[in-house]
Amino acid sequence: MRRRQVLQAGLAILAIGENAFGQMHSAPRIGMGGMMAAPIAPGSTWPVGLPLRRLQAMQNTSAAEGEFQGELVAAPYMAHLIDGPPTQLWGYNDSYPGPLIELFEGQRVSIDFLNALDIDSTIHWHGLAVPADQDGSPMDPVPPGARRRYAFEVPAGSAGTYWYHPHAHRTTTLQVARGLAAPLIVRSADDPLQGIPEQTLMITSLAIDAGGEIRDARPLMGGMRGMMMADAGEVLVNGQRLPTHRVDPGATERWRILNATADRYMRIAVDGHRFSVVGTDGGLLAQPLPNVGDWLLAPAQRVEIVLTVAARQSETFLLRDLGYGGGARRGLGAALMALETTDASVVEPIELPSTLRPIAALGPASIRQRVVLSSTAMGMMGSFLINGRSFDMNRVDLTTQVDRVELWDLVNATMLDHPMHVHGTQFQVIGRTVRGRFTPASYPAWLDTVNVPAGETVTIKTQQLSPGKRMFHCHLLPHEDAGMMAVLEVLPA
Ligand code: C2O
Ligand code: CU
Ligand code: CU
Repeated sequence: MRRRQVLQAGLAILAIGENAFGQMHSAPRIGMGGMMAAPIAPGSTWPVGLPLRRLQAMQNTSAAEGEFQGELVAAPYMAHLIDGPPTQLWGYNDSYPGPLIELFEGQRVSIDFLNALDIDSTIHWHGLAVPADQDGSPMDPVPPGARRRYAFEVPAGSAGTYWYHPHAHRTTTLQVARGLAAPLIVRSADDPLQGIPEQTLMITSLAIDAGGEIRDARPLMGGMRGMMMADAGEVLVNGQRLPTHRVDPGATERWRILNATADRYMRIAVDGHRFSVVGTDGGLLAQPLPNVGDWLLAPAQRVEIVLTVAARQSETFLLRDLGYGGGARRGLGAALMALETTDASVVEPIELPSTLRPIAALGPASIRQRVVLSSTAMGMMGSFLINGRSFDMNRVDLTTQVDRVELWDLVNATMLDHPMHVHGTQFQVIGRTVRGRFTPASYPAWLDTVNVPAGETVTIKTQQLSPGKRMFHCHLLPHEDAGMMAVLEVLPA
């Protein structure tokens, strides 16, 4: 009897998740008073349609010019997410997502970290070129109860959208899926899009069971390790389920969208709208990419878009994940946020400048490396490998030299896509090879994570700027935890 009730609750979640808010291509029922709440268990609901929360930036406790000082504590805490029992999350400073850190190019940053979890943790500044010993890699764990200070300088030219998250050996998925992830924005003194109102949309996913507890995101043992995962969670924007963002009709906004889920590919679109893509992982493009209908955002990637909202009053459009196959059953699609126009008079759109920020060509590459992604036989303990090996932090898998420009051919010999991520730098995609045919990239962009589709080869141009050991890995976090990670040693020039 008990079991049956649980089962039914599970089915209810599925029904709501996939029909009302998932794959249906018409809008969900939306009344003047907001949207229907989504039942997650008998007697409790997950509210939807609340006004989109604006993420609060962390206080800078330093009064010194050009300096940022702050504190982060990673700890369990009780969060009220649903109208029902509270949920124990792990959070930075008791918040979900964690506090937005807002920095300026050239700033000296020091962040005191206290690990109040009962397992090792770290803080990794995803995408920012910080020194190897400040990068929060798994080689540098912070034990339970310990403190450490992360100190680095924000690189010149790094203005863009980043995030931070734990990167402890084998438990990154667990920690991120329990709530430890937060946005970080680097600003420049001369932002060409300065006058455009801005929103940060941090997308995460959370799987809560009927009792309000987190269902742990763990790769299934048996079958191909890391293949099944936390996808079953609800997709949230700024920690809210299907929030409503109200804007005046005709308004132009800049959205920084982060895919901070552990393992979910997303194809972002807004019903009835096209938008301009103005930035990627490492910041602005050289020129806006106009008239984009949807954008693939692989796990860990960020995109900046500028959207001019339809000049129609009191209407609702959904920001959606259209879903993405990714070589396997991943990403069913979901509604992420309702964009609702007010009944105010139509405002004038803001024109984008034709150029944004030059993207330096990296110069000719002096060597070419081949990196093959493969999988072990479909055996019971299968796993994904990089150049035939599983992660061992005591081994060096790839080497380079400070400042050396290299081409890397990322060859995906598996049947799944992998979003590959390099620490310590931003790189450029040169082109893709599909069935022997090379197609050059059509515009330059800074990325720290690139999707390498099943069976394809992606060629990147990359350059490391400081010495030390860096991680290179798949950002489907269950794959990373299962060993799809390599050590890149950057030797002094
Ligand atoms: Cu976002 Cu190695 O990580
Ligand atoms: Cu990283
Ligand atoms: Cu992978």
